[in-house]
Amino acid sequence: MMTPGDVHVWTFPLMQGSRQIRELTLCLDPSERSRGERFYFDHLKRRFIVRHAFLRHILARYLSLSAPDLQFDQNAYGKPRLSARCNHADLRFNLSSSGEWGVLACMYGHDLGVDIEEQRLMVERDQLVGDFFSEQEIIQWEKLSDYDKDNAFFIGWTRKEAYIKALGLGLSLDLKSFSVSFDENEDHLLSGDNDKWRLVPFLTAPNYRACVACPQQAKTLSFFHIPELGSNDLFKNVQSPNKVVVFDR
Ligand SMILES: CC(C)(COP(=O)(O)OP(=O)(O)OC[C@H]1O[C@@H](n2cnc3c(N)ncnc32)[C@H](O)[C@@H]1OP(=O)(O)O)[C@@H](O)C(=O)NCCC(=O)NCCS
Repeated sequence: MMTPGDVHVWTFPLMQGSRQIRELTLCLDPSERSRGERFYFDHLKRRFIVRHAFLRHILARYLSLSAPDLQFDQNAYGKPRLSARCNHADLRFNLSSSGEWGVLACMYGHDLGVDIEEQRLMVERDQLVGDFFSEQEIIQWEKLSDYDKDNAFFIGWTRKEAYIKALGLGLSLDLKSFSVSFDENEDHLLSGDNDKWRLVPFLTAPNYRACVACPQQAKTLSFFHIPELGSNDLFKNVQSPNKVVVFDR
């Protein structure tokens, strides 16, 4: 059960067999199916279907609806939301995926953001830092050893993405206009709305970095992990969270 002030973060596997993909497709609406069809690469199409099916199944559970009954629209910058017609509880969410994993963060009544990235060798790493990170971030960056920079890059990137996704402004928000910390223990923004958000890093699987941007109204943060698709019941092996964080402000 999720109560006001709780944030739930779900992790789920994107790699599924053809039979599962066919079954998962059944809950998608015509616009999702046609979006799926537009992917040129089959593996991208499959991951799209799986993440949207998980999105529907997980959200439907909170609303006591069935997955195909959910309807979505989006804000002016493309951030998806549940349409008012099916969202009597004002459930908000954000979705992210990378490589083999998808993550979904949700809470009642307040927007939030989430980002996951598969950690890989980035030859253009320093170039990206120069292009997208703020002056304050670049000063922190230059003090790090080359070894620490590998992790720091993904901590910073997922924090920045989770924050812009929480605000829902897409890339109309200049990534250089705000600063995050590369220190995992520092979860506030280093500039601007620093007491309004917590940028909490989390690990989902080896070689993945993720971050959830929780609004100040968040009191607890619970992580749920779906390791694989159960035969009939997606949630069969997921009765309780595998980690809970309580915020003390
Ligand atoms: C599109 C964007 C919202 C996220 O893109 P992304 O990191 O490639 O993808 P993610 O998997 O994290 O998120 C995609 C999901 O975010 C959601 N989303 C779409 N627009 C959104 C918006 N304006 N705000 C929040 N969420 C949004 C959707 O649910 C989408 O899922 P879908 O494609 O299945 O519909 C945008 O922030 C972006 O393009 N970021 C890349 C910018 C960049 O270069 N950053 C470098 C930082 S160093």
